[in-house]
Amino acid sequence: MAISMLKKKPKASKKFETKQHQLSDTIYFKILYRIPAAIFLLILIFLWSSSTTIISGKFLHVCVSSRKLNNLYCLSAGTQPNFEIPIQALNKDGSISPNVTASIKEVVGIVGEDPNLMVANRVHNNGSDGEVAFAVTVVEKLLQVQRSWISNKNHAASCEGKGIFVYDLPSKFNKDLVGQCGDMIPWTNLCKYFDNEAMGEPIVELGNGWYHTHQYALELIFHTRALKHPCRVYDENEAKLFYVPYYGGLDILRWHFKNVSNDVKDSLGLELVKWLENKKSWLKHSGKDHVFVLGKISWDFRRKNDALWGTRLLELDQLQNSMKLLIERQPWHINDIGIPHPTYFHPHSDDDITDWQLKIIRSNRKSLMSFAGAARPDAPENIRSILINQCNSDETKCRFLNCSSGGCDKPASVINLFMDSEFCLQPPGDSPTRKSVFDSLVSGCIPVLFDPFTAYYQYPWHLPEDHSKYSVFIEQEEVREMKVNVVEKLMKVSVREREDMRRFIVYELLPGLVYGDSNSKLQKFQDAFSMTINNLLQRE
Ligand SMILES: *[C@@H]1O[C@H](CO)[C@@H](O)[C@H](O)[C@H]1NC(C)=O
Ligand SMILES: *[C@@H]1O[C@H](CO)[C@@H](O)[C@H](O)[C@H]1NC(C)=O
Ligand SMILES: *[C@@H]1O[C@H](CO)[C@@H](O)[C@H](O)[C@H]1NC(C)=O
Ligand SMILES: *[C@@H]1O[C@H](CO)[C@@H](O)[C@H](O)[C@H]1NC(C)=O
Repeated sequence: MAISMLKKKPKASKKFETKQHQLSDTIYFKILYRIPAAIFLLILIFLWSSSTTIISGKFLHVCVSSRKLNNLYCLSAGTQPNFEIPIQALNKDGSISPNVTASIKEVVGIVGEDPNLMVANRVHNNGSDGEVAFAVTVVEKLLQVQRSWISNKNHAASCEGKGIFVYDLPSKFNKDLVGQCGDMIPWTNLCKYFDNEAMGEPIVELGNGWYHTHQYALELIFHTRALKHPCRVYDENEAKLFYVPYYGGLDILRWHFKNVSNDVKDSLGLELVKWLENKKSWLKHSGKDHVFVLGKISWDFRRKNDALWGTRLLELDQLQNSMKLLIERQPWHINDIGIPHPTYFHPHSDDDITDWQLKIIRSNRKSLMSFAGAARPDAPENIRSILINQCNSDETKCRFLNCSSGGCDKPASVINLFMDSEFCLQPPGDSPTRKSVFDSLVSGCIPVLFDPFTAYYQYPWHLPEDHSKYSVFIEQEEVREMKVNVVEKLMKVSVREREDMRRFIVYELLPGLVYGDSNSKLQKFQDAFSMTINNLLQRE
């Protein structure tokens, strides 16, 4: 599991050591040995921070294991070596305080259930099973609401009443951050990734529309597209939607690996809020018609109290009303919407898409399955090592690309592997989501998921509710307990089922998972950007 109950102990070097934090409390005990429950419980508890009871008077630290930080591919969405959430939780007897009940009502109120009934059910099903059931219900209800905002119209065709106003922010909030690309993270110069309208350098061997795009480039890619949207207006009175092009992900990325105070990390975000509060357009609907695009995961912007990792941007009261589009959402926040991680494919035309679809549907998939990733030796509860062992035990069926030894540095190596494979294993890494899920879908490789938070609870606008149409799910607990051999399990998926899933992925999903280039002229298809904008414009 991506997030484990460990106490963080960062070292000065790039590697971060972790060690278990000892707590005798039974709730913690349960969490440790029931990892899936742990995630739900933790996040729920995190949500209920108005409660005053702190278990055993201590803090639980949620720490995320290290990864090979000098490897770009492996530096996926959630590089958060010392991410921690102070837990303020249930009463010792498992009952919940009135304050917590109030918080539940707040969340559940959004989804229109009878809050008293839900609270009663929850109290009735006490213990961690009840927590999990309750947490899942809430997530699913929120996703239903987010799905109800899906538009079946392409508003770009007629912009009447659907103007998009893009703020011209002072450059310190965006361009100047890009300017710090050389010095943003200690082990790599990011500048070349931000060239070419943030798509990076072309990858000739993969064909038209392929670029070496950095996984945190979403803010720039989206901004460039927004500036060119046909519904863009220059008069705020004509706007239905306000786009705030603050590169908050780059803002925090530059501090992640530097020893600076939390005040420093938060300062630019706070300046932005001040800047917005001077705008009539912001005050008019208290930010409700404003949207932010953040190219990193929600947790990077939800620092609690005196933790060290990330900013408090998304915890600020002033930002609660606005929509936040992120590569990984906080599952209990209705205004956090997950949108696809950027892949290496940025088609310019319909033909770029159809040519690619044809190529991958015809691809001769020589391996049953593959895994491109790195083990997490510091996180023993992570299932990656087990999967790697199962994979390596039959080389005729499974290919392992070791990202720890640089195997994934070249996008073409990863994409070619995925094009050669029927299934691609996508266990969580440092956070539940993986960019690699999108790389595999774009390569026509059926993703095998082990945690519902990796995709099912993330992307309501871009992936359908029925996940059996495009993926295979294997409960990670079963892998951890060695109850399932993944190779054997996947061999049992019939050729017919594989083909149905692959056709769905390639023809139905793929166009909507990629971000076209900034001048793309797509007629037949809606890409991830247009779908997102249409839904934002549709929402009342
Ligand atoms: C509930 O929250 C309020 C304010 O946040 C606090 O003053 C009060 O002590 C809390 N009550 C309980 C029972 O936790
Ligand atoms: C709640 O949990 C406690 C202790 O585990 C148990 O004794 C009690 O019967 C449970 N209550 C309900 C309503 O299930
Ligand atoms: C970080 O900075 C603080 C204050 O300047 C200093 O006390 C601390 O030793 C530094 N930590 C590291 C790991 O360099
Ligand atoms: C992957 O590569 C790293 C670094 O070379 C090595 O330490 C590790 O053992 C490799 N993992 C496997 C499973 O081969």
